[in-house]
Amino acid sequence: MNKIKSYDASFVFLPSVVIGVVLVMMMQWCRKGRKGSEIPGKLGIPFLGETFAFLAAVNSTRGCYHFVRLRRLRYGKWFKTRILGKTHVYVPSVEGAKTVFANDFVVFNKGYLKPMRDMVGKKSLLCVPQEMHGRMRRLLSDPFSMNSISKFVPKFDHELSERLKRLENSGKSFRVLEFSMKVAFDGICDMLTSITDASTLDQLEHDITYVTDAMLSFPLMIPGTRYYKGMKARERLIETFKAKITKRRNGEEASDDFLQSMLQRDSYPPNEKLDDEEIVDNLLTLIIAGQSTTAAAIMWCVKFLDENKHVQDRLREEQLQILRNKPAGALLKYEDLMSMSYGSKVVKETLRMSNVLLWYPRVALDNCTIEGYEIKKGWNVNIDATQIHYDPDTYKDPMRFNPSRFDEMQKPYSYIPFGSGPRTCLGINMAKVTMLVFLHRLTSGYTWTVDDEDLSLERKAHIPRLRSGCPITLTRLDDTYMTNS
Ligand code: HEM
Repeated sequence: MNKIKSYDASFVFLPSVVIGVVLVMMMQWCRKGRKGSEIPGKLGIPFLGETFAFLAAVNSTRGCYHFVRLRRLRYGKWFKTRILGKTHVYVPSVEGAKTVFANDFVVFNKGYLKPMRDMVGKKSLLCVPQEMHGRMRRLLSDPFSMNSISKFVPKFDHELSERLKRLENSGKSFRVLEFSMKVAFDGICDMLTSITDASTLDQLEHDITYVTDAMLSFPLMIPGTRYYKGMKARERLIETFKAKITKRRNGEEASDDFLQSMLQRDSYPPNEKLDDEEIVDNLLTLIIAGQSTTAAAIMWCVKFLDENKHVQDRLREEQLQILRNKPAGALLKYEDLMSMSYGSKVVKETLRMSNVLLWYPRVALDNCTIEGYEIKKGWNVNIDATQIHYDPDTYKDPMRFNPSRFDEMQKPYSYIPFGSGPRTCLGINMAKVTMLVFLHRLTSGYTWTVDDEDLSLERKAHIPRLRSGCPITLTRLDDTYMTNS
């Protein structure tokens, strides 16, 4: 009986041990694989790597994301490359985005290309180390408080309505991109510095364009290059801001704006104020971060609405309802935006599809793994928002413009047009509000035709924008729309 028992036991025991050992070996192998999985991709020759292929994509009408798209076709979702001496990895998944965002400042820090860093300045919120970032962000948040945004809404609405009326009266076609760049720029400058004089604004905008154009240039300080022009324009902008600070300190001018709120802190202890270099670098940063992003988003929204008339009709109905409930000619208030539930979904869907910021750059501060892939200290890790927003597993039929998909809640980290974590966009509310006011005035006042259907993208731009600038012609809605309900 005993013998049978012991025979039975070894019969069961031995294979179990073998299976167990095999399983442990497999798990170790897997774990090792996960720990050390090498990311496919070509680093190319030292320093330059694939810099020229990247710049070729930047200079093409398919846009810089084409560089990423081509490598995905070649290597799969994960790939690595080398640009300007730095190894870059594009993180394509929700899980990967979560790992990076959740470890911002701990394992990863912001990692901009040199020309981008040079253009915004080393005291910019985008470039400062963690120990300065928290204080700076807190102090810079003031202009984006509900109180400031509430003041901004009617002011922006007034300015926008007047400009649209003038364009409609002229009967001429105009480029939405140029128009939205101008209104976004003037709105932000007014809020930050109260500059409203047309020729000063034109000069500033001209220089800001040089600066943004240089952000993806080859960093060679040789006269005539894009980089050189960008750096020179930056110097002029800094000079203008510094002159304004001096005037305010001398009491030659005063205003209720962001700059004034910074200068009121002059007598505060150092950790409760920004020094002059910090103020000017961040004035520049806020204008750059806010203008071209918001303007591009507005342009894409107009384009998407033109291609999806049923969405446009539904949005118009919601906006007309808001107009009907207000006294004739009244300006929008912040509270009105709360009733724009479909409008908010149109804004969300626009930001998902347009991917105004294509990816979010970080640098690994240590060796680590993301989703089992080995990342080495010093590598650039780019959270690929575009790939995440186009993932068919998360967004059914991802290339269809469908605001109603936002009737449902999104999984964390699957919708990240404003980033996430400690570096979430500072201007998130201002951007949404600007877009909603624009959509309201456009759809409740006008219909439009797009006058150029060309889909090619602007060259040398780090933000995808139509090369045509999306020219449209406005037609005023007739009064019957106001009475229909
Ligand atoms: C549709 C418009 C906008 C979009 C899509 C957008 C998107 C983003 C994203 C994705 C980030 C985070 C990037 C990262 O994690 O690396 C960011 C950061 C930032 N944004 Fe925006 N943004 C918009 C408008 C604005 C506006 C209007 C302003 C201000 C006037 C602004 C100011 C900033 C600043 C200062 C940061 C840096 C925050 C930090 O590093 O702590 N943005 N934005």
